[in-house]
Amino acid sequence: MDATFTIRVNGNEHRLTTDPDRPLLDVLREDLHLNGTHYGCGAGDCGACSVLVDGKRIFSCSTAINEVAEVAGTEAAGQSITTIEGLSNGAKLHPVQQAFLDEGAFQCGYCTPGMIVAATALLKEKPSPSDAEIIEGMNGNICRCCGYARMISAIRRAAEQNGGAK
Ligand code: FES
Ligand code: FES
Repeated sequence: MDATFTIRVNGNEHRLTTDPDRPLLDVLREDLHLNGTHYGCGAGDCGACSVLVDGKRIFSCSTAINEVAEVAGTEAAGQSITTIEGLSNGAKLHPVQQAFLDEGAFQCGYCTPGMIVAATALLKEKPSPSDAEIIEGMNGNICRCCGYARMISAIRRAAEQNGGAK
């Protein structure tokens, strides 16, 4: 049975009525038209659908809306969701976005939003990661173009620009 939710995405509140078990990814793409978050495997294995929930990376393909949104008529508190569209500050790119651009850390670009979101969460948790920590932290994200070396450089660059250096 459908329920009514309030969902907070990129600083905006949206109210919608939908199936509580619907994947967050579908709500973002189909209802809110935030198409930067991509569908890859649909099973929590590729990271293309990564978004931030209260600053932590989650897979939106395998997270139901009722896990992150406020449900009307209940005490359940909604969480703050950030998608790739919410990372930049107006025309100013987020430092991780800028670093990916500067390092040319993408080929087809399909995985890139998920990679940038995951890297943002990683750097929040570990502002100055070693290469090994970058590799481990990005383990949930797959790039079918295998552009990993440049991504590691980009994440290192973003860390250095944030004041961390390794
Ligand atoms: S689409 Fe969500 S992890 Fe692959
Ligand atoms: S750049 Fe093509 S999938 Fe990663």
